[in-house]
Amino acid sequence: MKVELYHASKYGNGEKVVAYLQGLLVAGGHQAEYRHIRDAKPKELPSADLYVFCAPTRVGKPIGKMRRFLKKARLPEGARYALIATHGEPAPDKKTGKMPTPEEIAKYQQNLPAMEAILKEKGAVKVAELKVYVKNTIKGPLADGWEKVVEEFAAKLM
Ligand SMILES: Cc1cc2nc3c(=O)[nH]c(=O)nc-3n(C[C@H](O)[C@H](O)[C@H](O)COP(=O)(O)O)c2cc1C
Repeated sequence: MKVELYHASKYGNGEKVVAYLQGLLVAGGHQAEYRHIRDAKPKELPSADLYVFCAPTRVGKPIGKMRRFLKKARLPEGARYALIATHGEPAPDKKTGKMPTPEEIAKYQQNLPAMEAILKEKGAVKVAELKVYVKNTIKGPLADGWEKVVEEFAAKLM
């Protein structure tokens, strides 16, 4: 299988995830390449059996650059894709010490459904999705055990 991976990592966590995933795919005998979306032309994406898009979250949604990239993306009809969202790990409020409620957490985690909505309009088919957490809310590092989560995801894709 030929896999094209695109990420929009700002602080490097998403890039680390995508690089690790690419390595696992290659080790599994697949052809896989990853790049930042700034180094790709959305209207000239190479053909692939699977596209992977990975975006950091901004106020609940995918970072704007990835939203625009996906909207412009020209994909083959029925293209298969997988999504990865990186999120700040939910943490207690600094003033009150209280954890956010499940409703509050959900509100700030609409990255995956937002990317899916854009790709659905293009007739692309989602095969898997993954949330990966970073510690310290914004810059990371990646939450403990992230490698295992990515390994399970890779197994699903293969
Ligand atoms: C301005 C800003 C807003 C953010 N909003 C959210 C959010 O609503 N939900 C969330 O889970 N993470 C949020 N984050 C944390 C990002 O998800 C985190 O920085 C990103 O996943 C790290 O990935 P990267 O290292 O690949 O850039 C926000 C970060 C910034 C800088």
